[in-house]
Amino acid sequence: MTYDAIILGAGGAGLMCAAVAGQRGRRVLLIDHSPEPGRKIVISGGGRCNFTNRQSAPERYVSANPHFARSALGRYTPRDFLDLVERHGIAWHEKTLDQLFCDGSARQIVRMLLDECDAGDVTLRLGEAIRDVDHADGMFAVTTDRGRYAAMKLVIATGGPSIPKLGATGFAYDLARRFGLKVVEPRPALVPLTLPPGEALFRELAGVAAPVVARCGTAAFAEAALFTHRGLSGPAILQVSSYWRHGEAVAIDFLPGRDKGWLLAAKRVAPRASLRKLLGEAVPDRLAATLAEQLGAGERLADTRDAVLSEWEARLRAWSFRPNGSEGFAKAEVTVGGVATAGLSQKDMSARHLPGLHVIGEAVDVTGWLGGYNFQWAWASGWAAGQAI
Ligand code: FDA
Repeated sequence: MTYDAIILGAGGAGLMCAAVAGQRGRRVLLIDHSPEPGRKIVISGGGRCNFTNRQSAPERYVSANPHFARSALGRYTPRDFLDLVERHGIAWHEKTLDQLFCDGSARQIVRMLLDECDAGDVTLRLGEAIRDVDHADGMFAVTTDRGRYAAMKLVIATGGPSIPKLGATGFAYDLARRFGLKVVEPRPALVPLTLPPGEALFRELAGVAAPVVARCGTAAFAEAALFTHRGLSGPAILQVSSYWRHGEAVAIDFLPGRDKGWLLAAKRVAPRASLRKLLGEAVPDRLAATLAEQLGAGERLADTRDAVLSEWEARLRAWSFRPNGSEGFAKAEVTVGGVATAGLSQKDMSARHLPGLHVIGEAVDVTGWLGGYNFQWAWASGWAAGQAI
């Protein structure tokens, strides 16, 4: 069977690309080995799909080339996706930090994309395992366990290896390499970090969350951190995990929003107060107790020298954790790294040396922050390729 374009992977990026190309009159085949399209969409955002973020801009994406995403993100914006959502009558709401969610179910987003594919007469083949892909005489041929298909254009939209139990694989990287593209080392991202046994005291805080600023290198995120049985989680930690590398420290500011010199000022106002009690105003009690214990704080601030109080405050503003790993691809929401952008056109995601080949979505070395940025990349890169194939 011959098509104008074959798209591998019916996730957010592949569905968007197929719908756009189909509606431009292209004969499109969309293949996925999973029996269900858009599985990550269905479970995303706690079942409500955080489908975009109003602040989507290249600075909020991690990539070896931070400018690469600019063109696609600029041409297909959060407003464009919102218009589509509204055209389909899907009710939505805005949460904190410019994150947009469905009021109802994430399944509405999958339904919407499938309807858009229908409008473009896209042929969808689900539950079909890809056995081989080759390229000869200007045509790509895809052999599956059920047939052989050919097209002049091939789009790799099979995502990254995060959450294998949802059908995620590193297939995109293998295929891209076979066609001469380079791959930036993939790492789990938006993932909880694990702490070594030496940090056992903090593991006893499992379940405790606090508003913090988490920092790793130059990245800083003011959101909640959560202590877990294995280490650290919560939005602030998931965010810094995308920047974290083995051996690096993560610094946590437990006093965001408190003025510098807070502890010294507190000593003047309430000399009889303990550090533990004072900290209890900033963070949950159990965490306040652990932090005070780790600092070796006594009963009364009045009994502690100013220099020591300043030292404590400095530690509380940059408490250093040295994670020994992350919870890995099994728990990672996304993958940092992927098909190197250097080999791709930022306009239409095509391979520079093989223009009929395109790579879109999470498979590419472009990874968004937590909060709807990754779907916006899936839509925008899918749209860009869909316009070109
Ligand atoms: P995606 O992984 O969605 O799709 C790839 C498709 O390719 C899948 O359908 C898969 O079955 C198929 N495939 C893989 N290997 C194959 C092979 N060998 N042969 C054939 N098919 C193959 N982002 C966001 O912006 N807001 C949010 O709320 C969330 N929430 C969220 C929750 C959870 C639990 C996860 C795991 C992830 C998120 N994300 C998110 C991230 C978001 O889901 C992700 O960035 C996009 O789904 C990526 O879209 P893609 O289409 O590129 O890949």
